[in-house]
Amino acid sequence: MTLAAKRASTLPDLPSPLEGCETAADWTCRRREEILRLFETLMFGKIPPRPESVRFEIRRRKENVFGGRGSRREVTLHLQNGRRQHSVDILWYLPNRNGKRIPAVVGLNFMGNAAATEETDLPPDSTEFKPGQQAHRWQIPMLLDAGISLITAPRNSFFHDDRDGRRTSIFRLFHRPQELTRTHREFTAISAWAWGCSLLLDLALTEPDIDPRQIWVHGHSRLGKTALWAAANDPRFAGAVSNDSGCCGAALTRDRHPASESLSFITKTFPWWFQSALDAYAAREEELPLDQHFLAALTAPRPLLIASAAEDVWADPFNEYRGAKAVGSVYRLFGARGIGSAPFPKPEAPIFGDRVGYYLRTGKHDVTATDWTFVLEFLRRNAPDSAGQKKNS
Ligand code: GCU
Repeated sequence: MTLAAKRASTLPDLPSPLEGCETAADWTCRRREEILRLFETLMFGKIPPRPESVRFEIRRRKENVFGGRGSRREVTLHLQNGRRQHSVDILWYLPNRNGKRIPAVVGLNFMGNAAATEETDLPPDSTEFKPGQQAHRWQIPMLLDAGISLITAPRNSFFHDDRDGRRTSIFRLFHRPQELTRTHREFTAISAWAWGCSLLLDLALTEPDIDPRQIWVHGHSRLGKTALWAAANDPRFAGAVSNDSGCCGAALTRDRHPASESLSFITKTFPWWFQSALDAYAAREEELPLDQHFLAALTAPRPLLIASAAEDVWADPFNEYRGAKAVGSVYRLFGARGIGSAPFPKPEAPIFGDRVGYYLRTGKHDVTATDWTFVLEFLRRNAPDSAGQKKNS
């Protein structure tokens, strides 16, 4: 028996997201809303409202990027609420049209727009990060070759990722500085980032060449937690891709790997990501009235891909897989099998189940070209016109 199988055979029962829910209508009309509120009150706080004015300004267009594969737009998002203003720079790539409407992937980046691309003629975001430093995480030429548009913006532009980030975050559009101190934990970075993803989706919707049924949210690690929360709150997302999201993302909290991240660690180290209510469950995980498959279930019945890296013990790959499997009970209400009873896979052997996918990649906590190969295949299989999707709808 493998170690993973041994662990699986001794696991305690998980709480069920279904509770009193027998049909898809029970889920959609009642239970889904209850679970959304649970995550709001216990983990991520509320998604900010919409400001009075949202305006996108295309500052610069460049044709024939990456050897003629597509075009680039640099956009500024201008937000205004009363007299308060906030702006965010967005990087947007579009493939050449091939006659069909284009799918889009939206997601926040860690190190700024200039670091997300190999193109070197973008204004630097900060002196901290080098241009192109994380270009491997986006594989823009690969996306353009696959006919997919990419829209990305820096996480720090919505909520600077530190203890005092709240003061300069997008929450300042709605609250006075004294309401945004370290103690105002109800205004979380993860909700600000998820809200940011929805604004990137708004931008995608301004482009008639983009298919509004195919706008996906993607995120890695803390932004993988964010991608799940964004898809949970915004039904316009076609589905979600959550890469190496770990604790408070796709990884189940109960019976975690001893070397993986705990609730105690995450709430102490990153308190600005979470509601203060979560602190009470540190070292008492089993008392939480939910586990992370409840969060993943909020994407149902839309397609969901959960990804792990084999060396990323901190994010607990086996528990990310368990989460992907456990979410199946909710997909089944909608006639989709999820990943069924597929065993924990070997690296590079993706499980492309019925609306739910899971894979393990060789290597470390990161996003690589191999990840994108699997992501693009999942998106292709779950495109609204593909045979697989028609069968289930
Ligand atoms: C830390 C944190 C994780 C998070 C990761 C990341 O490792 O503990 O929860 O996912 O950073 O975002 O890279």
